[in-house]
Amino acid sequence: MPFPTDIFTEQDAAADTLTHLGPLRRMAGVWEGRDGVDINPKADGPERRRFSERIELQPIDAQSNGPQLLYGLRYHTRILASDEEATFHDQTGYWLWEPATGLVMQTLSIPRGQVAIAAGHAAADATELVLNARRGETGYGICSTAFLEYAFRTDSYRIQVVFNADGSWSYVLDTALVVHGRPEPFLHRDCNTLVKVAEPRPNPLAQLQSARHDP
Ligand code: HEM
Repeated sequence: MPFPTDIFTEQDAAADTLTHLGPLRRMAGVWEGRDGVDINPKADGPERRRFSERIELQPIDAQSNGPQLLYGLRYHTRILASDEEATFHDQTGYWLWEPATGLVMQTLSIPRGQVAIAAGHAAADATELVLNARRGETGYGICSTAFLEYAFRTDSYRIQVVFNADGSWSYVLDTALVVHGRPEPFLHRDCNTLVKVAEPRPNPLAQLQSARHDP
């Protein structure tokens, strides 16, 4: 096992998350993208929709699982289809980075009754991230409502993020769905490019410390 025998002793954490986010530093802030494309399952076949997105990724204070030290961003994304007013897709969670091992994780929570943790590894200066989750895994798995398990079983989730030279970033999400009564899995794919519209706020501890130093 790559884990230490002492599972209780915590490491010292830095107060300023923004300078310890490794590859996730490039995602911190508020972002918008208008050229998203979604392919989702409908009764009479795949539906392709254009969407716009706003995603906020704000630093949180460092978190410790015993000796495992994580720096991260809390996110909320809201997606609107180009031709309707109601929210098309809503998602919250965390992006997390463990500097000691290069582990990158994304937790997802989707209000159709679905949660997942996806994981991958990357260097601090990576220009691309690839994370995966698989149904049935207890570590980096997917958990859905009983109805979704019956009708639209999600077997795998993969996200690829590419950091572009102009400071924007792009993603491709591949979600493999087994739709009840259909012989082949359905590839539910989403992609978009996000451009920064606001800088991130420092994490709460960093804000407190700078208020003390600069009253
Ligand atoms: C940009 C991201 C995404 C967008 C815009 C999006 C959009 C949609 C839309 C429009 C549908 C069809 C809903 C309906 O017919 O009622 C759908 C279905 C579905 N999506 Fe997504 N989705 C996204 C990401 C995800 C992710 C990350 C997962 C899971 C890990 C997921 C799981 C599902 C499932 C299980 C269904 C089938 C349920 C149903 O059709 O009622 N989606 N999605």
